[in-house]
Amino acid sequence: MSTTHHGLTAHSRSTNSRFKIIMTCVIAALAGLLFGLDIGVISGALPFISKQFHVSDRIQEWIVSSMMVGAALGALLSGWMAKKIGRKFSLMIGAALFAAASMLCAFAADPEWLIVGRVLLGVAVGIASFTAPLYLSEVAPRTMRGSMISLHQLMVTVGILVAFLSNTAFSSTGNWRWMLGVIALPAVAMLAGLLLLPQSPRWLMSVGRDKEAQSVLKQLRADTKEVEVEVQEIRDQLKISQEGWGLFRSNPNFRRSVWLGISLQIMQQLTGINVVMYYAPRIFGLAGYGSAHDQLWGTVIVGAVNVAATFIAIGLVDRWGRKPILITGFSVMAASLAALGGLLHAGISSSTSQILAVTALVIFIAGFAMSAGPMIWILCAEIQPIKGRDFGISASTFVNWVANTVAGATFLTLLNTIGHAPTFWLYAAMNAFFIIVTLRFVPETRSTSLEQIERNLMAGKPLRELGQ
Ligand code: BGC
Repeated sequence: MSTTHHGLTAHSRSTNSRFKIIMTCVIAALAGLLFGLDIGVISGALPFISKQFHVSDRIQEWIVSSMMVGAALGALLSGWMAKKIGRKFSLMIGAALFAAASMLCAFAADPEWLIVGRVLLGVAVGIASFTAPLYLSEVAPRTMRGSMISLHQLMVTVGILVAFLSNTAFSSTGNWRWMLGVIALPAVAMLAGLLLLPQSPRWLMSVGRDKEAQSVLKQLRADTKEVEVEVQEIRDQLKISQEGWGLFRSNPNFRRSVWLGISLQIMQQLTGINVVMYYAPRIFGLAGYGSAHDQLWGTVIVGAVNVAATFIAIGLVDRWGRKPILITGFSVMAASLAALGGLLHAGISSSTSQILAVTALVIFIAGFAMSAGPMIWILCAEIQPIKGRDFGISASTFVNWVANTVAGATFLTLLNTIGHAPTFWLYAAMNAFFIIVTLRFVPETRSTSLEQIERNLMAGKPLRELGQ
């Protein structure tokens, strides 16, 4: 075994750097946890909030959606912030704001106050949802990049589950203030963890702090050769200036990848996933489960299936490829929502039809978590050319939150206007339509290098052939 000049063996050095990199990524991926906590917390609190403040369905929709409006703003703001003050400090601001805004929500004296608190909470989540994947992709070695993006999505699902569990724990007292306040704790823990993290080496070099970047890389990479190669790579990349808006206006090929990213995120949200995440108790109510206790336990099942099925995606993504997984997922979601609509249409009167309705809902969640959940985030990170990456990814992340807002802000209105069954059929039809869109426009990027994808894009190849 060779010995390095530090007196460590090459083997122990590589184990050591692997450990550090995993710890770094786990702490940064906690931002995904905040994302998930925020999505999950409202479904359990909403029934109690509306009881206390006597709010209409319209105001309920706004209590839900104000967080997403904030997140869209946060995603826009964070591109600029991550560049100015760096990824690490942006994440810290996100975590601190999250903790403060959770407390603000917990003390809300009226619905308007709550809505303002939720907007601020959203800004924090928007910052985290843009910055964490960026940071992860910059500190992780190339071979671990894909799994690090999946790790982030996994943390999102864990966050949702934890929020559902905490909602259930507090439900016996109906104390929605505790539900909304307690999520400040993980944010404070994350803030403390973030203090220990290194700055992103790529960001350090972008502001001329090359020496510090090198010492960070020395801690996170197995040997000095790897560090030298990466420093050179970052230097070369930084020569390519980020053109963003200019490139979008001047280059029709770049416009295609930006539109593809935006469309993928719209598709992810219009599957209807967050309708279930935000209004799960209400949906369980439609399925005949009247008590708050049953409804909250129902959400825990939904949350657990969401986490478990994400592992299917992580296991299959590099073997099956992105496209077959997406097509399978959209088909499963279309079929299960159509069935749920059918059951509601027929009227849920027996315990068999109740169980069938819940089964359909659970299959829908599994269909999403094994496909569009992680896959869309992975594809969005893969399809943008290097010159326009920051711009392309912030545009698609922004639209993810806008589409999320639209879904959250219209669900109850849809139920009340077109009716219960047709609302689910509408979402089923959209999922069926996305199968066609995927077949026609989505590229298969499995085992294609990002450089090859970029060459194909710029050569004007059809979108679905970008990965060939
Ligand atoms: C989506 C979120 C969704 C979550 C559910 C994410 O990929 O972007 O909107 O709530 O998955 O697990």
